[in-house]
Amino acid sequence: MRVAVVGLGYVGLVTGACLAEWEHDVTGVDADPRRLATLREGRVPFHEPRLPELVADGIANGRLSFTDDLRGAAAAAEMVIVAVGTHDGNGGWQTDTVRGALADIVPVMADDATLVIRSTLPPDFIKQLPALVASRRATAGVPPIPVMLNPEFTREGRAVRDYQQPDRVVLGVVSDPDGHGEAALRELYHSAAAPVVVMGAIDAAITKLGANLFLATKISFANELAEICDAFGADVDTVVDGMSYDSRIGGSFLRAGVGFGGSCLPNQVSMTIRTAAQFGVETPLLTAVDEVNHRRRSQVVERAATLLDGTVRGRRIALLGLTFKPDTDDLRDAPALTIAGELLELGATVVAYDPMPTARERSGTLVPGLEVVPAAADALRGADVAVLVTEWPEFVELDWALAGPTMSRRNIIDGRNVLRGAELAAAGFTYTSFGRGTVAPEVVEEGIGAGATRVASLQWGRG
Ligand code: UDX
Repeated sequence: MRVAVVGLGYVGLVTGACLAEWEHDVTGVDADPRRLATLREGRVPFHEPRLPELVADGIANGRLSFTDDLRGAAAAAEMVIVAVGTHDGNGGWQTDTVRGALADIVPVMADDATLVIRSTLPPDFIKQLPALVASRRATAGVPPIPVMLNPEFTREGRAVRDYQQPDRVVLGVVSDPDGHGEAALRELYHSAAAPVVVMGAIDAAITKLGANLFLATKISFANELAEICDAFGADVDTVVDGMSYDSRIGGSFLRAGVGFGGSCLPNQVSMTIRTAAQFGVETPLLTAVDEVNHRRRSQVVERAATLLDGTVRGRRIALLGLTFKPDTDDLRDAPALTIAGELLELGATVVAYDPMPTARERSGTLVPGLEVVPAAADALRGADVAVLVTEWPEFVELDWALAGPTMSRRNIIDGRNVLRGAELAAAGFTYTSFGRGTVAPEVVEEGIGAGATRVASLQWGRG
């Protein structure tokens, strides 16, 4: 199928490159000349595993090309997929970009082509879509075209896999009187062995939203459960494992820690709260999800202060990990940046390291005063507390016994519950995580080592 993908950000580029690998003939359209130049060289302007290979292959075999000629690409396509941004950068929606793109695309599309919207859009805008597209077609004196939604459910770091092996493909019918649009999308996805679920457009939009809101709710639930576990001396990982055997519950997305970040979950929670309020709908559950999530970041700062006899002022805190999760270079709503900002405000020196060079480069500008260093060892040297914020494998595999003597004090806050507390306590660390206590109980009971003595005095610990 000849496909034009409009908007070569995260969603659009993954879509275009994956479709090219499925042997569709894809033209990617973007207005940014620098982005186009980078892509034409086969380079991807952000980190996403496997994507550079797909882009390079697509260019080499002629199935993927890039242009800024929106009208030309739209006119030549059997299907136009719109994947432009819809966030306003302040936690709200903006629909100007999608409106602008549609104004150019809709009048020139072939009469038998299908328009597909993949950008995430607010339901009230989707309600306006049929009339908006129909009037532009009528004004141009051309017949109506099918209009479909095809929301995306891809995760950063796993986007290629998620696109090509989806759990389901959701198709929302905006306007498709003879079923041509649905048939075209089924054809587009013929390589994906997944159920195709067809529904109304608003249902599709809210399915996308609902999925993300539920994932966010699960994480905040796990984080609140972790607090309960800390209070009663339970281990949240063991508890979640025990719960997960219940097929109604399952075990995924229940990892406690510093909470969720990124471009999707935090935004969609806050945008839904705001949009629902405009329609007179109260969302106390989502408000709590948001609050629990943001409180986690401050709790890291509070824990650092508790470990340092009440204040972080004048202390050196090492942050391990800046990106919102591993295998991405994305810093949007990254917990590390909020934690760094709060620590700096309280007078701490904050030294951060992330394995992703581009994230290191950008974070210094995003958080004034943050010191960013090129290696974990540099961040840890002289630190009073190490905070593991992002569970990059490098931090999980780090030789903490070697790092310990270089630190001023051996304190670790494990913000992702990925390190082994008992081993660290044995190496002289005071180790605390979220919902798993502070150190292995046997170390406390035996009363050996400086770490053990400190643990007994901490409020949230199991000791
Ligand atoms: C999310 C959705 O998963 C995806 O379906 C949607 O299309 C886009 O939004 P993404 O933002 O890439 O994807 O990240 P995701 O893997 O969902 O993680 C989001 C955040 O939640 C990360 O900060 C992660 O560290 C955190 N998280 C995830 C937890 O804190 N605990 C968990 O159990 C899972």
